[in-house]
Amino acid sequence: MKNYRSYKTLLTFLCLILGAIGAARLSHSATSGFRLSKIQDNFFDCAHKTEESAFIPEGPFTYLGRGLQSFAFVSADGNYVLKLFNNRYQRALFWLQQLPFCRERADKILAKLQRTATSYSIAINTLREETGILYAHLQPTSNLPKSIKIIDKLGIVHTIDLNTHSFVIQKKVTLVYPQLLKWKEDNDLVSAQSGISSLIQLIKARFDKGITDSDPLIRTNFGFCETKAVHIDIGAFSLAPQEHPQQEFERIFTSLKLWVSAHYPELLPHLDKEIYAHVF
Ligand SMILES: Nc1ncnc2c1ncn2[C@@H]1O[C@H](COP(=O)(O)OP(=O)(O)OP(=O)(O)O)[C@@H](O)[C@H]1O
Ligand SMILES: [Mg+2]
Repeated sequence: MKNYRSYKTLLTFLCLILGAIGAARLSHSATSGFRLSKIQDNFFDCAHKTEESAFIPEGPFTYLGRGLQSFAFVSADGNYVLKLFNNRYQRALFWLQQLPFCRERADKILAKLQRTATSYSIAINTLREETGILYAHLQPTSNLPKSIKIIDKLGIVHTIDLNTHSFVIQKKVTLVYPQLLKWKEDNDLVSAQSGISSLIQLIKARFDKGITDSDPLIRTNFGFCETKAVHIDIGAFSLAPQEHPQQEFERIFTSLKLWVSAHYPELLPHLDKEIYAHVF
């Protein structure tokens, strides 16, 4: 009898834990993991030029997408993105610094935080045009709107004070593959060719500036504003000349070539011509 009771208690306890894990997973997928607590205390210690004037588009800002480093919200007119940085490294560092025996792990996280800060300052200072950045806010201020509205994936409206958050305002793009499909649908090979040339020049310009990108994924990190290519992911730059630039340059376009062969073969000759026109 006693055994049966403790077995039942254990089972109830297990069910409660599984239920809690299930609910947490469900809520994570419904919100894409966005919570206000993930964008608090998200400042970076990094060198960037003081912005002459703040450019804050009209809100509300509606959830658009996310990566590991940020949450993107689109402005009311659909032309701009408010990119709020995820505080994952700052949060991890805070907890690791409270715990004994975690020194090594804390040092690793601190190095990641510093690499990210360096990448943001490279984007803001050196690749500003290429990354479509219109305004950057990496340190606290007091002159920005104190209550802007952001709408999460569930349609829940949150009010935040921009002065106390770290973010950039960036041009809104259409990601590369959806835009190529749109040009194909519109029979607009000229725009598609012009977009491809712009994308290749964009990446070549980064190589020429001696900047390496550890995440040059065309599918998620690049897009077009009309036919102008923009590098939207600003978190993986470092100041170091690319090793084996020719191979790396061609490698970046491997998946694009495969995609174009399968979905837009008329564009392939132009893509090939543009890739191989650039010699390092
Ligand atoms: N300027 C933009 N225009 C349109 N969509 C955007 C823009 N910025 C971000 N997004 C959307 O949000 C997603 C994540 O953006 P981004 O790659 O900048 O975030 P990240 O956190 O730096 O990513 P990663 O996980 O690659 O480090 C993009 O793949 C895209 O869907
Ligand atoms: Mg990304």
